Amino acid sequence: MTRDYFNARADNWDAQSAEKDAGKLARLSRRLGLKPGMYVLDIGTGTGVFLPYLLREIGVEGCIFALDIAERMLSKARLKNLSGKLDFLCASAEDVPVASGTCDAVVCYSSFPHFKNKVQALQEIKRVLKKGGRVFICHTSSRDSINRVHRQVPELHEDVLPSGEDLAALLIMAGYTEIIIEETEEGFFVSARRAD
Ligand SMILES: C[S@@+](CC[C@H](N)C(=O)[O-])C[C@H]1O[C@@H](n2cnc3c(N)ncnc32)[C@H](O)[C@@H]1O
Repeated sequence: MTRDYFNARADNWDAQSAEKDAGKLARLSRRLGLKPGMYVLDIGTGTGVFLPYLLREIGVEGCIFALDIAERMLSKARLKNLSGKLDFLCASAEDVPVASGTCDAVVCYSSFPHFKNKVQALQEIKRVLKKGGRVFICHTSSRDSINRVHRQVPELHEDVLPSGEDLAALLIMAGYTEIIIEETEEGFFVSARRAD
């Protein structure tokens, strides 16, 4: 199970697996266009690698729901004692314990391939977004390299990051509009706005 896989790696995640390039994380966080005071849901927050960057963008008035299915990954994030309004939620992307229409943005950084029911997750994300809110599905490495790594790990070999085009089709089906797709050697970035 995905949850067991990440729980077993929580202690060494930051040292062994997390993105180390602070410049890439800072550039990505700025690319999201977040504003002070925004409410953001970070799905698959893990040990909270991206949280300091998101907190910097939304300031003291903003709030982050930091959600993950793996409780040991979340414990590591909690231990960092990051300053800012943070609500840690142990739950799944397919069933988010956040009221409808709460979030200005939903970030899936380095987590979307692991969602077992991607359509359901996108519908659930749409539910928690405010009208006009945006979802971001993003990585700081290329789709090819992510899928190559996952194929080599028995527990993750079905966790595929779809192409930008396939993801756009899923997003349209789930009720999103204004889709932006940027696939490069350096990273993967797809964003869409809740249509109604
Ligand atoms: C590759 S890690 C990335 C963690 C963090 N975003 C980072 O970059 O270090 C993927 C995370 O997504 C979480 N995850 C996987 N499937 C999930 C789901 N269906 N709902 C919520 N979190 C999930 C895992 O437990 C794990 O912490």
